[in-house]
Amino acid sequence: MINITIAKNEAEFDSLAAWRVIHEIGNNPQAVIGLSTGKTTKNMHAIIGRIYQEYPFDVSGITLFGVDEVTNVPREYKGACYTMLKTQIIDALGITEENFIMPPTISGDWTKDCRLFTEKLAARGGIDLQILGLGENGHLGFNQPGTPFESETYISKMDEVLEARIRKETNTPPEKELGGLTLGIKNIMHARKIVLVAKGASKAAIVEKILRGPITTDVPGSVLQLHPNCEFLLDEASAKYII
Ligand code: GLP
Repeated sequence: MINITIAKNEAEFDSLAAWRVIHEIGNNPQAVIGLSTGKTTKNMHAIIGRIYQEYPFDVSGITLFGVDEVTNVPREYKGACYTMLKTQIIDALGITEENFIMPPTISGDWTKDCRLFTEKLAARGGIDLQILGLGENGHLGFNQPGTPFESETYISKMDEVLEARIRKETNTPPEKELGGLTLGIKNIMHARKIVLVAKGASKAAIVEKILRGPITTDVPGSVLQLHPNCEFLLDEASAKYII
């Protein structure tokens, strides 16, 4: 069941998105909340931090984590999800390292680290709220088109454009593989509540496709039609084909 909310403009979108997270924290002081990085969520993270600083609320029991992470780059790289989340929201809320669950960016045993990431979330009771960005090809996290709906946390291939950018920014030589560790579709679908966030005209076509098109692994986001408690939070630009 998908509920759709359409914000009048980008500012309202950012504010509504921020309040989704703050409400969850207010309703559930032990909430386990999944975040996403990218252009869509940057402002919402900043707003959450600003509201917290002006009107503090209790965050001591919450757990925050990121839905995905870039592999084989330094964790301190500005494009690593760990660093993006840390600088955009984690530090502003004073979340401890213990309550910020992220997979590593470098590992000698990815199978083990993927399993550990999922197990740590399960040990906290599973995901209460997952904020999800959306790729223009319909990807969720790093789950690219073609990913089976049964997939569980794994290392996915990154799309070529993003991979080229990260390779350049981190000076990673061609022989070293870059990937995207991501919660699988199955893990994402187990979240008790999902808020998919998409803004801007570049997302309009894919928003229409995942909402109105067939449910297919060719378009990972289409699986959300099967989720019992999912909201699409959009702005008018990204919603232009569905209104
Ligand atoms: C990347 C991330 C996703 C994110 C997506 C959307 O692919 N791995 O988690 O949802 O970008 O990014 P943007 O908001 O910049 O469009």
